Amino acid sequence: MMNDLKNIQVDSSTQIYGVFGDPIRQSKSPIIQNRAFQVMGINAVYGAFHVKPEGLKDAMNGIRALGFGGINVTAPHKVRVMEYLDDIDEAVRYIGAVNTVVHKDGMLIGHNTDGIGYVRSLKEDLKYDLQGKTIVVVGAGGAARGVVYAMAKEQPKHIIVMNRTEEKAKALADKLSPLCSIEGIGLAGIEHIKQQNVDVVVNTTSVGMAPRSDEMAIDPSWFHEGLIVSDLIYNPRMTKLLEVAEKRGAKIHGGLGMFVYQGAYAFEYWTGKSAPVNDMRSVVEAVL
Ligand code: ATR
Repeated sequence: MMNDLKNIQVDSSTQIYGVFGDPIRQSKSPIIQNRAFQVMGINAVYGAFHVKPEGLKDAMNGIRALGFGGINVTAPHKVRVMEYLDDIDEAVRYIGAVNTVVHKDGMLIGHNTDGIGYVRSLKEDLKYDLQGKTIVVVGAGGAARGVVYAMAKEQPKHIIVMNRTEEKAKALADKLSPLCSIEGIGLAGIEHIKQQNVDVVVNTTSVGMAPRSDEMAIDPSWFHEGLIVSDLIYNPRMTKLLEVAEKRGAKIHGGLGMFVYQGAYAFEYWTGKSAPVNDMRSVVEAVL
């Protein structure tokens, strides 16, 4: 793979991209995006910028003033960044959060590639189609909103959002009900879930993330062969939920694909070129 890399020199034509967040040093986005630019021979570079909440406005003005090509936005700026944009896409209107900004013709346009990145990972990595499927999404926070939005666009049969705080599950279901058949329930609704013909379960909560990696967000005792169990967590790569699911014969899908494809979509929005997804994945796998 190394010999596919083009030798790009940073010079006075280099287009600048980056990610704004607080904290930011843990971000793996520079690794995947710089590899993508290199593999594609694009004269661009991607940096990690530690932008604190009080600096967000100046940083966003900086995109215009300095002529950056675009940015990714991560916590805690995904919602507030909208104040500084000229327009947002449909995904952002449903999700209420932005992770990618494109700077084009003097305009800053907000997108959200997390959910669509997740669905593309299911489609391309697992060769799985959500049309006509019954889906359980565990969690109703920011990550869940992106995933549920993108899944709702795939013509599923039904989506059940299950969350510790039931009202949040119901509110999310309400908001996305124009797109597909969807309901919100609390954790006690597990009996209701067992009676459905569920095809896919996805955990969008932080339950099971290192260092508390022996926890699970949903009772897995009903998982069965043929079920798809997916976890957005990628640290650890093999969560307890996935481990149990695999033992019970389910097909498992980890969270790294979502990270890679959210970055792939961002790259494609910025450059108009297909992202070198396999290179992006292998470079991040090497550092995890
Ligand atoms: P993110 O943007 O990563 O989704 P978030 O918006 O804070 O983060 O949402 C976290 C989600 O994980 C929520 O659905 C939360 O449930 P509540 O709405 O009840 O808070 C869920 N979550 C976090 N810790 C949890 C726990 N220990 N048990 C069950 N659910 C948990």
